[in-house]
Amino acid sequence: MNTNTLPNKDVIVALDFPTAEQTLAFLSQFGERKPFVKIGMELFYAEGPAIIREIKARGHKIFLDLKLHDIPHTVEMAMRVLAGLNVDMVNCHASGTITMMEAALSGLEADGSKKRPLIIAVTQLTSTDEERMHRDLLIDRPLDEVVTAYAKNACKAGLDGVVCSPLEAAKVHEACGGAFITVTPGIRLAGDAKGDQKRVTTPADAKALGSDFIVVGRSITAAADPVAAYNRCVEEFLG
Ligand code: C5P
Repeated sequence: MNTNTLPNKDVIVALDFPTAEQTLAFLSQFGERKPFVKIGMELFYAEGPAIIREIKARGHKIFLDLKLHDIPHTVEMAMRVLAGLNVDMVNCHASGTITMMEAALSGLEADGSKKRPLIIAVTQLTSTDEERMHRDLLIDRPLDEVVTAYAKNACKAGLDGVVCSPLEAAKVHEACGGAFITVTPGIRLAGDAKGDQKRVTTPADAKALGSDFIVVGRSITAAADPVAAYNRCVEEFLG
């Protein structure tokens, strides 16, 4: 496997902003600190690859969170393009099947001359609770069983890890091994609003539950002092 070198554990800040201007103004508050960041659909669709190049040039590691889910050939070709952006982590939906995940990996590895980003699979979104999964998706098994089964599929396809809730990290590690990474959103500092997230934990709880990377959006981006909120997440999760 020819993958990028990343820390084993880190706090990833979700840059859920609509424009490059707001994003860069937000990042400039951090000065010489260069948090690992996540760029999602909103910012990427608005600003395209230019925002990736700009943030890379400023020295940040990037998780490009586009959650690909399509027929295997389309996903493979799209991953070839994403590999060319020199990001550090990308993802796709495990519900796209093992064949689709294998195709995603082949796309990333098509240019064998350079290191590929890590690739992780989304199991169930942390905004989906068990009742909604039963009712809307017609999946009638317990949520943790579904997450573990999807993680095993990602592992079979050769992926590096999964996106899941910290509440599921231990089960995923048990099923897929300690080196299989868990990237966990649904994080809130104590006292912050949950918003649309259903299954939330604090950074300290995520650490205790065995998460490898926590993804934190609004608890940092909407804080009165985002740098202080980031430092608190780092202290709780890595300290
Ligand atoms: O603001 P908040 O901390 O809820 O942001 C979480 C981030 O993680 C968002 O960018 C969201 O798209 C992403 N995410 C998630 N649940 C997943 C996968 C990604 O919340 N299962």
